[in-house]
Amino acid sequence: MVRAFEVAELNQRFEIPGIAKIVTGQGELTKVMVTSPHAQGEIYLHGAHVTSWKPAGNEDVLFVSDKSQWTDSRPIRGGVPICFPWFSNKQDDANAPLHGFARITTWQLESIVQNDDAVTVSLLIESDDATKKWWPADFRLNYRVTFGSSLVLEMEVSNTGTNAIRFEEALHTYYRVGNVEMVRLEGLAGVQYLDKVDEKRQKTQAGTIAIVSETDRVYLNTDATVNLKDPTLHREIKVTKENSMTTVIWNPWIQKAKAMADFGDEEWPQMVCIETCNVADSAVDLAPGQQHRMRALVSLSK
Ligand code: BG6
Repeated sequence: MVRAFEVAELNQRFEIPGIAKIVTGQGELTKVMVTSPHAQGEIYLHGAHVTSWKPAGNEDVLFVSDKSQWTDSRPIRGGVPICFPWFSNKQDDANAPLHGFARITTWQLESIVQNDDAVTVSLLIESDDATKKWWPADFRLNYRVTFGSSLVLEMEVSNTGTNAIRFEEALHTYYRVGNVEMVRLEGLAGVQYLDKVDEKRQKTQAGTIAIVSETDRVYLNTDATVNLKDPTLHREIKVTKENSMTTVIWNPWIQKAKAMADFGDEEWPQMVCIETCNVADSAVDLAPGQQHRMRALVSLSK
């Protein structure tokens, strides 16, 4: 829990009056609120979860569950959790936290910068005794989020040690949709994917994606832009990416939604995850002193 004086201290260092302010959010967790002429946004220091992005004149582009547990031991259910340094289960350790430790770590706020039409919030985590308990690597992970008429999410991993490191990473973005069964995802036709609801069988995407049952797919070797067409909310979300060679598409559907304590039974039609990532065979190898930057750029049109 962050005490009021800690929030006050952060504001002394980082507040931009009328533009960016640090406040106590849900579950007494600390968040940065951004309000600019072009967008409103929110990011928690817990997990560096972005939980809101509203380009001016629009409803939220992101989905956050009403049942999310707002506590520092659990990831926030929705927005943009960061998966790092592994995705899903850690292969050699069944007790390790799912999707890595980044989304349940309190991040350090590094800067808040206003440029003409956007505000960039920068946070970081670095290896320490706690991270080495799970992963014996020396690293720094810088995360820059730019809230403007577009949302730009940029993860930069540096190998600060003397040994090579290998990691997976994902910007596990939950998009809010009017009715997932009506949504179409364009851009991945012809791409091979691992179907996690069918024993990871490798398949080829035929045409656009329609979500008609539990969907959990890792699209392989693709840097394609994905367009989410939402006829119910009359909008289109475009997700463009850099230095990312896999894309995960996920919707839990009925049974899995019921099985998740931090997700409403009836919420599955309201979201779909399009995850910009490097997972499985696209895990990243970094030599000592090297850096790797992965970027997702999200834009909205009507
Ligand atoms: C997706 C995975 O990225 O995240 C799914 O492909 C998983 O298999 C989902 O169920 C949610 O994971 P979690 O740990 O946030 O419940």
